[in-house]
Amino acid sequence: MRSELLKRADAFVEKYGEMAAPDYRPGYHMLPPLGWINDPNGFCRYQGKYHLYYQYFPYSPVNLKMYWGHSSSEDLVSWQYHPVALAPDQPYDEMGVFSGTAYVEGTEMTLMYTGVSVNEQGEYRQTQCIATSADGDTFVKDESNPVIPTALLPEGLKKEDFRDPKVWKHGDTFYCLTVAVDPHGFGKLLLHSSRDMISWQYVGAPLSGEGMDLGNLWECPDYFQLDGKDVIIVSTGQANPKGDKFANVNEVVYFIGHFDVENASFTVESYDQLDDGTDFYAPQTILDDKGRRVLIAWQQMWARNCPTAELGHQWTGHMTLPRILSIKEGRLWQAPVSELAAYEKETVSHEKVRVSTPQALEGVNGDQVHLSVKLEMENSWRAVISLLKTEDERVTLTYDKAASTLVLDRSHGGYPISGGEMKKGACNRAVIALEGSPETLNLNIYLDRSAIEIFCPDNGRSLSTRAFPRRMGQDISFEADGEAVVTVTTSSLKK
Ligand code: FRU
Repeated sequence: MRSELLKRADAFVEKYGEMAAPDYRPGYHMLPPLGWINDPNGFCRYQGKYHLYYQYFPYSPVNLKMYWGHSSSEDLVSWQYHPVALAPDQPYDEMGVFSGTAYVEGTEMTLMYTGVSVNEQGEYRQTQCIATSADGDTFVKDESNPVIPTALLPEGLKKEDFRDPKVWKHGDTFYCLTVAVDPHGFGKLLLHSSRDMISWQYVGAPLSGEGMDLGNLWECPDYFQLDGKDVIIVSTGQANPKGDKFANVNEVVYFIGHFDVENASFTVESYDQLDDGTDFYAPQTILDDKGRRVLIAWQQMWARNCPTAELGHQWTGHMTLPRILSIKEGRLWQAPVSELAAYEKETVSHEKVRVSTPQALEGVNGDQVHLSVKLEMENSWRAVISLLKTEDERVTLTYDKAASTLVLDRSHGGYPISGGEMKKGACNRAVIALEGSPETLNLNIYLDRSAIEIFCPDNGRSLSTRAFPRRMGQDISFEADGEAVVTVTTSSLKK
């Protein structure tokens, strides 16, 4: 039985689904027809397809009480919208159905999520709940909810910041990682275990931000094994900048190491910022049927204005391109999924063009394109690629060979974007550190209207950002101090 809240949300999307203005909407990224979205939730393979749930508020382009939206895909590029999956329709989740994950066994899918409620004293409480489904569309919330109540929080931890369960099964035991905040204000990961997903015990706290300067709030943990290592990903808030890193108000960090799950102990070997851009948060990963570790994240950031909401476009936010993860040189590398190639058309190439003053190249333009660029810098110390360009607007990507940095600047990219990190000087500037001032720089640039993603195939780093050019600029140009040699292939990704 679908609750009244679910029926109302579906009817609203059905009636107003065409209302979102098309101007800045990406075409090959996942986003629902209208409204607000944030974190990916319950990402899984189920009955032969990829399913992605997400934090969703269909009624407006700003977030209020959270629901779970739902879309599915055969290939991670074309997404089909489904009815809303979960609504805040129970006393224990009436203030919001917050983020969580999916566990699939055979035809049964179980979602584990955070229920937000307010008690009689007006205090917010977060607890972990489950809902099961036999078709991925209709869910039954369990009678035992909340299955991890605040009573299972260790002494002293805040009962209003206990959320985002990551559930998995190891042998006969289910494990659940959640985030909490300790009495000194540090983010902490908690581990609970269960035999049946209903009755849970506290095991321990495998990781804490204490002494790490990694923010005062942790959110959305993920855990997986990759290339012989254990990896934990956490989204953090308010970390102090470290050089050009951790410049956003919120940031995603990964830890590579060894997870002794039975004893709830994670030994950190290395950690780093996962994406170097301005808009990347709350990622989730799955192991897919091809044996790939696929990651998808929310391509937006908390505590910022969003031009599409301000312009009355009736939508905000979308997901990043799905990426494949690997570990190389002790670091996590990201590369966009190969399925994108099947959508590429109208390919144009230019070989070894010598560039100094700003130069456009025949057929190299558009705002829904994949650009594969090689910059050869023998006679140049600085090269600039301008994207989404008109006479007075552009997003620039500058390779500064001496500084060994690739800097994205969207401060003249269109509608102004400002946010909670302005005090750190970031928000419109993002930097990929390149080791050893390479003579040759290879880049994969994906433009999808307001979505911009840069991938460096030589070091596995990525930079995800957004821009909203007022005049919908489509031009692309190349320039260099001295003379750089540019080889570029561009393909349209317009569907
Ligand atoms: C992260 C987050 C989660 C929470 C959800 C609420 O972006 O704050 O911690 O579950 O969003 O929408």
